[in-house]
Amino acid sequence: MNKIIEIKTFGNEEQGFLSFFESNKDIPFEIKRIYYTYDVPINTKRGMHAHKELNQVLWCPYGEIEVILDNGKEKKSYLLDSPEKALLVGKGIWRDMYWKKENSVLCVAASDYYNEEDYIRDYDEFLKYVKEGYWNDENKLY
Ligand code: TYD
Repeated sequence: MNKIIEIKTFGNEEQGFLSFFESNKDIPFEIKRIYYTYDVPINTKRGMHAHKELNQVLWCPYGEIEVILDNGKEKKSYLLDSPEKALLVGKGIWRDMYWKKENSVLCVAASDYYNEEDYIRDYDEFLKYVKEGYWNDENKLY
């Protein structure tokens, strides 16, 4: 988890392209929910939370979005600037997303249904979970 993966893609410039991934094959979990964010003004920051248990895959079928992942010990920046790139984000990762280009679309596939109880929306609370070893170093960044 917590790394960029290449999405399998077929096609050519004359006819266009098709990209796909499958649960438990290309991404290491079962998908229960898909959502997407769009019409976000340029330079907007979203995210600003971590999840206790949820696994997600993020991809940007159009546009450019920077995702900063933070495991409470280090931060890394990942650029979603191609429909052939996806970012796996596991539990215990604080994420900030920045919209870099007009009309960019962020798609997310998640391992579970929406549950507000799974969110940590306060950064100091997130750091407390990290300090307690809640994720047992399972939240490494690559
Ligand atoms: P949030 O996850 O905070 O969005 P982002 O990380 O992109 O800033 O979600 C925004 C709102 O939408 C929040 O009030 C909860 C609601 N929501 C759902 O009801 N179901 C969902 O599947 C998601 C992702 C959000």
